[in-house]
This record gives sequence, C-alpha cells and structure tokens, in this order.
Amino acid sequence: MRIVGPVHRPAPAILLMASFESSAGKNAAENAAASTKGTPLIGQHALLRQILTIAERVARTDASVLIGGESGTGKELIARQVHAFSRRANAPFIPVNCGAIPAELLESELFGHEKGSFTGAIASRQGMFQLADSGTIFLDEIAEMRLDLQAKLLRVLQEHEIRPVGADRTVRVDFRVVAATNKDLKQLVEKNLFREDLYYRLAVIPVHMPALRERRSDVPLLVQHFLAEHNRRHSETPVTIAEDAMVYLWEYDWPGNVRELENLIERMVILADENRIRLADLPPYVRSFISEKKHPKPILTDDGFDLQQAVEDFEMGLIDEALRRTGGNKQQAARLLGLKRTTLVAKLRRVREGPPTAGDLDGDDDGEMQGETA
Ligand SMILES: Nc1ncnc2c1ncn2[C@@H]1O[C@H](COP(=O)(O)OP(=O)(O)OP(=O)(O)O)[C@@H](O)[C@H]1O
Ligand SMILES: [Mg+2]
Repeated sequence: MRIVGPVHRPAPAILLMASFESSAGKNAAENAAASTKGTPLIGQHALLRQILTIAERVARTDASVLIGGESGTGKELIARQVHAFSRRANAPFIPVNCGAIPAELLESELFGHEKGSFTGAIASRQGMFQLADSGTIFLDEIAEMRLDLQAKLLRVLQEHEIRPVGADRTVRVDFRVVAATNKDLKQLVEKNLFREDLYYRLAVIPVHMPALRERRSDVPLLVQHFLAEHNRRHSETPVTIAEDAMVYLWEYDWPGNVRELENLIERMVILADENRIRLADLPPYVRSFISEKKHPKPILTDDGFDLQQAVEDFEMGLIDEALRRTGGNKQQAARLLGLKRTTLVAKLRRVREGPPTAGDLDGDDDGEMQGETA
C-alpha cells in the first residue's frame, strides 16, 4: 500500500506479536494469543511499543496495573496481554465491568454470597475474585464503583482475603488485579469521588493508552488488518481500499479510536461496490473532516463579514491542499478538485496578481509539469 499526500510513508507492516515472540519466548506468545482470544495487538508506534515493554515487565510481578485511556483504545487488550505473559497465564482471566453491574449487586458479584444473605440468594455463590484464584481479575470501569465498595475492595487488595456477602468467615485468594478506566481517576480523587488510598493501591504501575489520533501511523496497519479479518468473514472476493480513502482515514480524528475504525471497516467491507472502498464510500463525517479541520466554520457577527475574502480563503485552502497532495502537479490537483486545469491556474494567478487580464487563461508559464495534456 502506498500512502499519498500529507502522510509519511509507514515502514513495512509488522505485528507486535512478532516482536513479543522473540523477547518473551514462543510459549508466552502462544499464551498471549489464547488469552486475547486470537486478537493480535496491531501497531508499531513508539507509544504502543513502550506500553508493551511495560506490560511484559510488569507481567513478571504481581504488581497492580491501572490502565487509562479513551474508549476503544485497547485497554482490555493490554490487560489480557499482562495476564498472558504472567506466570498466571494458564489460570483464568476474569473481567468484571463495574459500570455495567447494578451497584447493589456488585459486592456479591465480586466477593460471592452465602445462601439466604439477601432476598433472592437461594444458594451460596462464588464471586469473581474466587473464580480468578491463581489468575487475574480485570476490574473494568473502576471509576463507577461506589465509595462504600471501594473501601471493601481496598481491604481485599491489602489482605488478599475476601468475605462473601452474609458470611462470617474470610477466604484467601491468590489474584493479580488489573483495573481500567476512561475517566481521569486523579481528578475524581481530588473531588473525593474516588478513594485516594485505593487509587495508589491500584496504580502501582499506571499505563496510559494513547488515542488513535496520537498514533496515526498505525492507521494503515489497522485498516489492512481489519480488512483482512472482515474479508475472511464476509466477502468471497477480497475488498481493497483506494489510496485517497486511506488518506482520509489517516487524517480523521477517531473519537471512538480502534473500535470505531474496526466497525467502520466491517461496514465498508459488507457494503463495498466492486470490492473496492472508494473515497465516496466513506461516511460524510469522515470525508468532510479534513476541510473542517483546516477551515473552521466562519461566524457571522454583528460587525459583518467579508464573504468574498472568506470564499477566496476557502478556495485557496483547498487548492493548496490539493497541490500539496499531488506534489505540485496542477493537472492532478485540478482533477482532485473537479476543475479544469486552466481554471485552477487562473485562480492561482488571480490570488497572486489580482484580477485576471485577457490571455491569462491561455496556459501556464510555470512549466513545472511534463506531459500535461489539458
Ligand atoms: N492495537 C490493536 N490491535 C488490534 N485490535 C485492537 C487494538 N486496540 C484495540 N483493538 C480492538 O478494538 C476494540 C476495542 O478494544 P478494547 O475493548 O480493548 O478497548 P477499551 O479501551 O477497553 O475500550 P472501552 O473503554 O470502550 O472499554 C476491540 O475489538 C479490540 O480487539
Ligand atoms: Mg474495555
């Protein structure tokens, strides 16, 4: 894949799984594949490599890991990597979504309960901590946990003993905890919405997953990876992607990060015409993103507005962009903009020299292009 335009050309695609194999040994890589349910971690950006190095190092210990970062950045994937590279890899990895379980049920979900301890507790039941014995418990969306339960969790992390709801005994459990949140936990601590002592207990090793827009150079790798994956699932003839469409995917800011990218590629594969994803197939919010980013919406104030100037600025912005992307080739730039080459040249000249004079449209004296036909 050749990337054109404003992007740097990415180095040859590699999967980080491969580098893991060499550093952590084949068994570790196999375990990683199993515990990540066959989802390889794609990316070669330095920020991601750093995180993987930390994950690999921390995996040799039982230290708690707190993973932050926006939604869809791969927090759970990293948590699974930590587990997979640890001595606990053959024991369970137990994810608990603290935000999805009603607050009044979360305690019994985590620590279990005795028969009859509350209405509906018809039998005693083991909690997630006990299921994670010898393995890893992944406390996802930890910021959603209520303060009263935070106090109980802190005690469990300190003593490695749990007390099931309604029980008068404690049970020893051997676990490692990895927690994740997309909230700013430090800020919640300052607002007294999260216990400071629990924060420090969880964040022995803090890890921050970068947003996809902070590691754009991974976009082409991820696109190709998800194309291959969804081609396998949905399509008999492989769907490919046009270069200009890839440029727009690169430039887009991806508020939903890798998850948003994956969902979009899946949809594009299913809907693709003639097995090709073209620029025109991308959703309008992706296609309009580049121009909106560079040309924020003008505001009409009571002081008035120079419409003529704004239109010219807008035009020149797009012409500059087209020329930059085509390496200064006016023929190709004009085609990108849906203009005749002579029209583009006239616009450039008008901006440089003021209003056009007769004869301006006859040609171009720059002579920068060889073999142009228009
Ligand atoms: N580097 C990556 N390589 C391949 N797939 C990835 C990568 N990062 C994320 N994904 C995929 O994107 C999706 C979201 O990842 P994950 O669930 O780990 O994100 P998250 O940070 O936990 O999101 P949330 O905060 O919404 O729970 C998953 O399907 C995951 O497999
Ligand atoms: Mg998650």
